Amino acid sequence: MFYQIYPRSYACAGSSQGVGDLRGIIDRLDHVVGLGVDAVWLSPVFCSPQVDHGYDVSDYYAIDPIFGTMADFDELLQAAHDRGLRVLLDMVPNHTSDQHAWFTAAVAAGRGARERDWYLFRDGRGADGAVPPTDVLGSFTQTPVWTRVTEPDGTPGQWYFHLFTAEQPDLNWLNPAVLAAFEQIWRFWLDKGVDGFRVDVADHLTKDVDRNDVRFGNDLLTHDADNRTHEVLRALRSTLRGYEHQPTAIGEIWSGGASYSSDDEFPQTFGFPILKAGWDAPALRAAIQEVLADTEPVWVIDNHDTPRSASRLGPARSRALTLLMLGLPGAACLYQGQELGLPNVDDLPDEVLADPVWQRSGGTDRGRDGCRVPLPWSGSQPPFGFCDDEVEPWLPQPPQFAGFTVESQRRDPTSTLELTRRWLGVRKQLVGAGFQWRDEAPDRVHFQRPTDTGTIDVLMNLGDTSIALPPGRILAHSDPKPPDGWLPPDAAVWWEV
Ligand code: BGC
Repeated sequence: MFYQIYPRSYACAGSSQGVGDLRGIIDRLDHVVGLGVDAVWLSPVFCSPQVDHGYDVSDYYAIDPIFGTMADFDELLQAAHDRGLRVLLDMVPNHTSDQHAWFTAAVAAGRGARERDWYLFRDGRGADGAVPPTDVLGSFTQTPVWTRVTEPDGTPGQWYFHLFTAEQPDLNWLNPAVLAAFEQIWRFWLDKGVDGFRVDVADHLTKDVDRNDVRFGNDLLTHDADNRTHEVLRALRSTLRGYEHQPTAIGEIWSGGASYSSDDEFPQTFGFPILKAGWDAPALRAAIQEVLADTEPVWVIDNHDTPRSASRLGPARSRALTLLMLGLPGAACLYQGQELGLPNVDDLPDEVLADPVWQRSGGTDRGRDGCRVPLPWSGSQPPFGFCDDEVEPWLPQPPQFAGFTVESQRRDPTSTLELTRRWLGVRKQLVGAGFQWRDEAPDRVHFQRPTDTGTIDVLMNLGDTSIALPPGRILAHSDPKPPDGWLPPDAAVWWEV
């Protein structure tokens, strides 16, 4: 069981800028331990200009001062391990920051230099090279994927490719030097005892940037002819194998995870299809079936890139889908705040929006800040214990977060927090359990998990009327009150026979 920490927004022990930090995580580690998860995944804490909040790395060997020091990280790792909690880092191999020494060297070295080959530089089209090499649009802002540099002699120069913002130049993974550099980075962190990586944009590493028959960056799933991303992933897997503590890696692959997860490539990939399926029984069943057939999933319905399910689906459905997901075979991941039923904040004022998507889309896409608002820990007004009272959190928390604090939910056995804690406890009974579909009616998702000692049924009601429950012992329920023989709409339940 994983728990995703988005460090900027988890807890802040010292920053005057209201940004969460590593010491804040150490101080609040017992919250995660108390939930009963096995591992945390930290969104990137490496040195970064923070254009994309850490997904633009300028030094993979150092901790960004905004989050603390390497000593803080070592202490966090030790504290987590002492509590039986594993720690995964967020590895960002598709691109670096434009402030990374590899990129500044590539620009400084000039056209044709070996350093340029670490990235994807091309000459422009037209007599003076002023037209970008292709017309493709990028992944999250739908703006051009090419930016032109000024050559060392001051003339307008080549263009470099970036799937995301211009400050995130893509690496050239067909250059063996890039792989060698990353193998060293992986080993640096694994030698420290880190338990593995969540791998960002894991299926886009090698791509054919010269193609002009795709209009939008995500279509760049059209790789280089041999799709050498597989070679990269095999190298990562073999690096992991060299360690006795059995580190893992989870691929961030939004579709087609199966082709990258095998004994040689990703041990685990995110089960995103259930996040995308919506509130629709046949679509959910198909999503589950697709993932189970092919991969070792880490099921997920919330993360730092997606509006929170408590708002996307509504609080009751979000709890129900979380409970359903926890009943599926494989691993699962909760995103910080999901255990509180935290809503998305959709009415952040324009002037505080900090996601590059907002600015880069010219204000047409509000971006992902709504799911990244700092957690409410205690008290009745902002900053709700997230940081010192005199400091303003980097994104403002709405007054209604008062009803969602960890402190208030701890006292309430019917709260989402206490329900989640119970679900995670019961879930331990499912280790090694089988899986079989039950009823395929259009208003429900229903499956069974045979265990050594009995059978656990998992049922979610997507219809408009209550469903009669057969006799059995209720183990977990998504509504604050246990069902009394009937499962109401928008609820899920586990029972044992
Ligand atoms: C991460 C995003 C990030 C993007 C670029 C994604 O898949 O999860 O938060 O903006 O990669 O690194």
